[in-house]
Amino acid sequence: MISQMAGISSLTLPSPNSERGNRPEMQKEKKTKKFPAGFLWGSAVSAHQVEGNNTNSDWWTFEHSEKRVRDLRARGKNPADYQSGMACDFYNRYEQDFDLLKKLNQNVFRLSIEWARIEPIQGRFDEKEIIHYKKIVQALRKRNIEPFVTLQHFTLPKWLADQGGILYDRCPALFEKYVEKVLPVFSGLVKYWITVNEPLVLSSSSYFVGVFPPNKKSLSKTLTAINNMAKMHVRAYDVIKKIDGKAQVGLAKNNIYFSPHRDNFFNRILVKAAKWWWNERFFGLIQNKQDFIGLNYYFRQEIGFQGSYLGIGSRSDRGWELYPEGIYYLLKNLKKYNKPIIITENGLADKDDKKRSKYIQEILLNIHRAIEEGVDVRGYLHWSFMDNFEWEDGFKWKFGLVEVDFETQERKVRGSAKEYARICKKNEIS
Ligand code: FCB
Repeated sequence: MISQMAGISSLTLPSPNSERGNRPEMQKEKKTKKFPAGFLWGSAVSAHQVEGNNTNSDWWTFEHSEKRVRDLRARGKNPADYQSGMACDFYNRYEQDFDLLKKLNQNVFRLSIEWARIEPIQGRFDEKEIIHYKKIVQALRKRNIEPFVTLQHFTLPKWLADQGGILYDRCPALFEKYVEKVLPVFSGLVKYWITVNEPLVLSSSSYFVGVFPPNKKSLSKTLTAINNMAKMHVRAYDVIKKIDGKAQVGLAKNNIYFSPHRDNFFNRILVKAAKWWWNERFFGLIQNKQDFIGLNYYFRQEIGFQGSYLGIGSRSDRGWELYPEGIYYLLKNLKKYNKPIIITENGLADKDDKKRSKYIQEILLNIHRAIEEGVDVRGYLHWSFMDNFEWEDGFKWKFGLVEVDFETQERKVRGSAKEYARICKKNEIS
């Protein structure tokens, strides 16, 4: 009902080709949606969520802090379920995981390299770790899988967090140094770079909602954090372009599809404000310095006088509304920046794998519709390749195309992964 009020059309999108009375095989043929040649099909992970033993990071410190452990116990939880530990042991198992990726016909993979490993002590770079990441990228290349490398995905080195983390006024300069150090090693191996992941999510989760370290609740700190992350991006952008002129540089931007809780004038104004604040303002802060737009899309949010609400439609285990049309509207809106767009994350927590296939199918239908209407979308990376450590919620949510048994490290390919593999192979949905 709400979606009708918001003027949103139903799930089935009108196909420009559909005609009544065609022979069945003709209809079947016309229902197939081809994606542009060279479309990137893949999935994503981030270092801290999958590698294991990221001991020099702010997150590791937070997960093991006395306060965190006490708080979890007070809530009747087992602290071990909220500590990343070995995670997926991806640090050691990446070769096998890439074999699996290959079997699943994916031709692109997004991962992050971990600043806390590469610079465990301020100013002291660990060459061994840099080489480790170089090997990872080579392992992807060997299999003809295009690497998408994120330079900072939520975590920070502990030494930086101790000085204020992303609030520290020298953070952008320190980030630039790290980027300047690692970049030459990957020249010719990595084409696509993502500087920072979801700057508004990191800033607000750390400094407004307080669920990420350092668990603060301050609007002014949140604003400072966002500004600093914009500076981090711009500095990284410039230094990458200086070192490797061929590199394509962007960031992964979480955008939300906002609609009014009740459709009235006042709520429509609030929706406009929310859109500007969450979806658009950051692009202004970085002076649109990006070669492509990385879009992370998860859900719709309704906005009303009393605040925001998650939409009421079908939901994932995580409680996020599954609203595939949202990606279509967001893509149409991003068209004005006139840059290629890559979906750098989209997915759902679905332990029993009941909704994943259908959701992927519908998301892709909406992406296809946007492409048909002239939006330059170049790729889709599903979150996530495998179940992993989901930040403040520990191992609770199962976002993976591939299921992971965290006791044995066994990987089990979910049914949806196989269906997605067919799409990746054929470059089409039907
Ligand atoms: C995004 C994060 C990613 C993962 C998904 C579920 O906001 O970038 O690391 O946690 O949500």
